[in-house]
Amino acid sequence: MANVSVSVAPARLEEEAAILPLMVEFNRVEGIAWKPEPMTAALRRLLREPELGLALVARDAASPALAGYAIATFGYDLEFAGRDAFVTELFVSPPFRQNGVGRRLVEATAGALRERGARAVHLMVRPENERARALYARLGFTLSPRILMTREL
Ligand SMILES: CC(C)(COP(=O)(O)OP(=O)(O)OC[C@H]1O[C@@H](n2cnc3c(N)ncnc32)[C@H](O)[C@@H]1OP(=O)(O)O)[C@@H](O)C(=O)NCCC(=O)NCCS
Repeated sequence: MANVSVSVAPARLEEEAAILPLMVEFNRVEGIAWKPEPMTAALRRLLREPELGLALVARDAASPALAGYAIATFGYDLEFAGRDAFVTELFVSPPFRQNGVGRRLVEATAGALRERGARAVHLMVRPENERARALYARLGFTLSPRILMTREL
């Protein structure tokens, strides 16, 4: 499928419903339990509160469904002397893959984060997700010599 008809832009509030099916699929492939109510509410809040982060969508002129989406959220880290961010979700719908849409979503996300003052962008990727790792490596992401640990609060 040609990517000329795909455009990448900030998600509009009313695109929540169009993002959700892709988000459900993203969580399924990532092995993350989908909790409809709190996760939908968290997406809605992100779309309404830009200080939290950003959501970008890839729209295809010829299709009512979205081609893909990316989510990034802000943090603050003295190591980078200011604001940083995590790309927390990146998903391209299977018919649109291998066409540069993933690359464009990542590049647009990095550009938008830079414009909003972020000085570094991080992401987590499953070690066996070779396709995504190769994409990120080509786009300048390097391995951090640390492991991530999480405690729910
Ligand atoms: C990872 C993912 C986002 C990549 O999206 P994508 O749109 O296929 O990515 P791109 O097209 O930009 O790049 C992928 C490949 O297409 C190739 N490509 C890019 N533009 C191309 C074009 N115009 N024609 C042909 N191939 C192209 C790239 O060289 C790359 O090849 P490689 O992976 O074999 O090295 C997608 O596979 C996906 O959504 N996976 C499931 C969710 C996931 O794993 N998300 C990341 C979690 S951290």
